[in-house]
Amino acid sequence: MQPVEIKKDIWWVGAVDYDTRDFHGYSRSPYGTTYNAYLIKDKKNVLVDSVSASFTGAMLCRLAKALPLEQVDYIVCHHLELDHAGALAELVARCKPEKIFCSQMGAKSMQGYFDCQAWPVQIVKNGESLNIGSRTVQFFETRMQHWPDSMVSYIPEDKLLFSNDAFGQNISSTVRYADEVSEEYLLNAVEEYYYNIVLPFSPQVTSALKALGGLDVDMIAPDHGLIYRGRKSAGFILDAYARLAEQKPCKRALILYDSMWHSTEKMAYAVASGLEEVGVPSRIMSLKYNHHSQVMTELSRCGAVLAGTPTHNNGILPAVAAVLTYMKGLRPKNRVGGAFGSYGWSGEGPKIVHEWLESMDMEMPAPFVKTQWAPRHESLGQCHELGKSVGQALTIKCGG
Ligand code: FEO
Repeated sequence: MQPVEIKKDIWWVGAVDYDTRDFHGYSRSPYGTTYNAYLIKDKKNVLVDSVSASFTGAMLCRLAKALPLEQVDYIVCHHLELDHAGALAELVARCKPEKIFCSQMGAKSMQGYFDCQAWPVQIVKNGESLNIGSRTVQFFETRMQHWPDSMVSYIPEDKLLFSNDAFGQNISSTVRYADEVSEEYLLNAVEEYYYNIVLPFSPQVTSALKALGGLDVDMIAPDHGLIYRGRKSAGFILDAYARLAEQKPCKRALILYDSMWHSTEKMAYAVASGLEEVGVPSRIMSLKYNHHSQVMTELSRCGAVLAGTPTHNNGILPAVAAVLTYMKGLRPKNRVGGAFGSYGWSGEGPKIVHEWLESMDMEMPAPFVKTQWAPRHESLGQCHELGKSVGQALTIKCGG
């Protein structure tokens, strides 16, 4: 449990969670996660963020190896969600800091979570600076990235941005830097994190990237996962976020479905053949085998969504309802959609899915396809045509 010096006198003192597969109770994290916290040793010693409560001991151990706990002067709380503030009460009790800095909204969250009336809390405003000796900590509010309280801080003397939730990835590892893993692995983790956590806040991401664009940054230290060191690595994640926030359509389609007796499954494959005929690759995901967060990660690479369900109790299957609820909350933009499904006697399912996709502002170039009992040649042909229509509309949306 050693601290890691990431810049002269600036130490990583966080904790690695190799075992979690459930991030915040709603998303899968197949590679675990990391709760990053940082210590700046200067005239005033500053602890930046903390860790989830169950990792308090690990963090205190690392921190104590870098500095006696009672010598921590300031604690900065960028964000009060408990993966970063879970250890806060223990830290305050052990370190007895002179001041705890947070945003105005952060102070409200702090009061909600902790009995903190006696804590020496100081609210900082957007753009405010704090001199800690040979360095300055500049605070920038980044509301809704991830909560209303969220902020980041920048150390100009070190060209270092502490970015809190922004630019994170759910990776657990013995290495601390993004350049120590393959770019493919890193990008997959970034897309997974963005599409399951950050996506609804894309307009704020675009604004924040503009606001922070004037900073001279050669290291970005997020609160989850690996640290981006050097301009190339920092540029990689800034570019990735600009692309992900823009949600520019990609010429690839996601086909998701659930099925009872394989009829809707056969329709899904016929939809894929229609897409293929017009030159649009697709990924077929059965919801029996793919979690809703895997579906969202795949959506990061797809400009179209085709969703299929049988009709069940005059509605749709629960796995389809779950993924559409999750997807709608994450507010994907600029997609083309299509719906299909089989039924026995009432047949409402595909219409419900079609309306659900429409409610996400998806362009729906063709009516939904439904087929009674098992799909035969004619209805599989209709599914093929649905795939073609969606593929052609997507191709136009992508500029040809
Ligand atoms: Fe990593 Fe919003 O918490």
